[in-house]
Amino acid sequence: MPWRDDEFVQGVIELNAQIMAWIGLGPNRAETTPIALAASSELTDTMLPYVRERRSNSGDDLISEVWRIGPTVLSDFVEADAMGICRDLLMGGTDTTTHALANALYLLLANTKISEAMLVDRPARVPLFVEEALRLYGTVQYRLRFANQDCDVGGIQVKKNDLLITINAAANRDPTKYSCPADVNLNRPRPREHLAFNTGPRNCVGAALARTEMIEAISALLNQTSYLRLNSQLPAPHFHGHFTRSFGPLHVSFDPAPSFFALR
Ligand code: HEM
Repeated sequence: MPWRDDEFVQGVIELNAQIMAWIGLGPNRAETTPIALAASSELTDTMLPYVRERRSNSGDDLISEVWRIGPTVLSDFVEADAMGICRDLLMGGTDTTTHALANALYLLLANTKISEAMLVDRPARVPLFVEEALRLYGTVQYRLRFANQDCDVGGIQVKKNDLLITINAAANRDPTKYSCPADVNLNRPRPREHLAFNTGPRNCVGAALARTEMIEAISALLNQTSYLRLNSQLPAPHFHGHFTRSFGPLHVSFDPAPSFFALR
């Protein structure tokens, strides 16, 4: 079985999209539930041969790493555990980054001042811009938590086992935490202090990878000789989605770079 198989990757992306569409729809799921369930079983069937193969034919890829590390953490580590972790990584690592990239791109396209600010000292500024894009338009809007003890959250009494819905997107614009919270500010004192990946003992295991992917993608776009702009002839983007949100459609056109873009 090849280590990289485009047909396999494409199939997995499509199945994943069907499951994510179900998650993104909120409560109205009558039509999408059977589609998502079928996609979920097909996803397991599609991935299983690859997960099995890496067990005996190990390489330097992530699935092999799961097989190597898993049994050192759980003494009764079995195939279902490896499969669960791989599926979790797939779900956690695809839709989130896609949306985060769309949001970062939208911010750049919609704010010429920001794209101009990126012309100078780009290696230092792109990572700061990525943090601001994550803070302002983080993909994951909210998380669910059960309280493990009675506590007080901002003056509200919470009882043990109460369900809390933490709106990370709102906290990321808290004016008591961020000055001018709706603005992109490349000089925030602690730029990584936001909740796009959540915080505390349970947070995003892929945060470092996601940051790297976003920095690389935004840098590559800014390094082009042509520049992107929103195509005003086509429908304008809007922020859409439920659990994971992004701007779309992003109709862009590639124009010759104006003179200030030559400043790179
Ligand atoms: C910009 C992109 C991403 C965003 C905004 C994001 C955000 C998040 C958030 C908010 C959580 C929830 C933490 C919690 O409250 O339990 C999470 C969990 C998770 N993320 Fe990410 N993530 C991103 C990219 C990735 C990537 C690239 C991977 C893997 C390659 C990944 C894998 C996971 C996994 C496996 C979990 C579940 C962790 C657990 O169950 O404890 N994420 N992510």
